[in-house]
Amino acid sequence: MTTKIILDVDTGTDDAVALMVAALSPDIELIGATTVNGNTAVHFCTENTLRVFDWIGLPDIPVHQGMSRPLARAQMTQINPASRIHGDLLDLPEARTATLQPGHGVDWLIDTYLASDGDITLVPVGPLTNIATAIQKEPAILEKIPEIVIMGGAHDHGNSTASAEFNIWLDPEAARIVVNCGRPIRMVPLDATHRALVSLDDCRALRALGTPAGEAAARFIEKRIDGYDSTQPMHRAGAAPVHDALAVCAVIDPTVITTHFIPVDVETGGELSIGRTVCDFRFRSGRPANVQFAMDADEPMFVRMLTEILGRTA
Ligand code: RIB
Ligand code: CA
Repeated sequence: MTTKIILDVDTGTDDAVALMVAALSPDIELIGATTVNGNTAVHFCTENTLRVFDWIGLPDIPVHQGMSRPLARAQMTQINPASRIHGDLLDLPEARTATLQPGHGVDWLIDTYLASDGDITLVPVGPLTNIATAIQKEPAILEKIPEIVIMGGAHDHGNSTASAEFNIWLDPEAARIVVNCGRPIRMVPLDATHRALVSLDDCRALRALGTPAGEAAARFIEKRIDGYDSTQPMHRAGAAPVHDALAVCAVIDPTVITTHFIPVDVETGGELSIGRTVCDFRFRSGRPANVQFAMDADEPMFVRMLTEILGRTA
């Protein structure tokens, strides 16, 4: 039985791997993708998403462009401090067949969910600006969203600041709206993604698959490893997290991550902690649990899933 999903992306290198996994997995029906300002300006995210679908031979997957700036905060001058990990445009040929669909991404999300049978999992792997805007514009979509699987958040350590992970940090007001929307939420934070690293040896295995997706994934992850080794080294050199792909793999097989059902909220007022996902593991707030928050991941299983799925062709 396949799972229908919509991916909301700020396509950079790990979003690109997530898009390929979702598009090629036999367990996923990728209904479409919406793009959002994040790793780079939203028009670059859109072009990158189109390039990915062209590259893997699936140019008809609908792509709609969404919000170009955060809900309430000023746009960041340097979109992502670790831009060596992404860059503005992916190292793929310019999109030629895949084309941007008319209409705003937020309106497409609203129309698609209102018309759905309530069976489309929403998988945001960038800042939550599109999702929060859609919920505020048309709250009736909430009852049509069975689950939201978010790549974002951090308990132990941030990547954009000491406290916060990039997707939440760039638009904390949006994140707070989504985290408190009342629908089932699984969060795949840095606490999980930093325990599921992909190495240079894994990239060699991906390239040896001989498929467009394997080649592109190897190219993107090698770039990520270079960026991480030089800007934010992991506990193991020569390896990097592929955050967004882990969120998609968690939709395919939930056992790839280990979650705790706890109260989680987002700091929107702190100076040093803005964008922090505040995890109440000991239920000190007296509030009910609202998020399945992942604190671990199965790295060998994740790499196996990537290799199996990216070895497929359209
Ligand atoms: O912090 C990691 C997240 O920020 C990933 O989604 C990456 O693509 C960037 O958006
Ligand atoms: Ca992303």
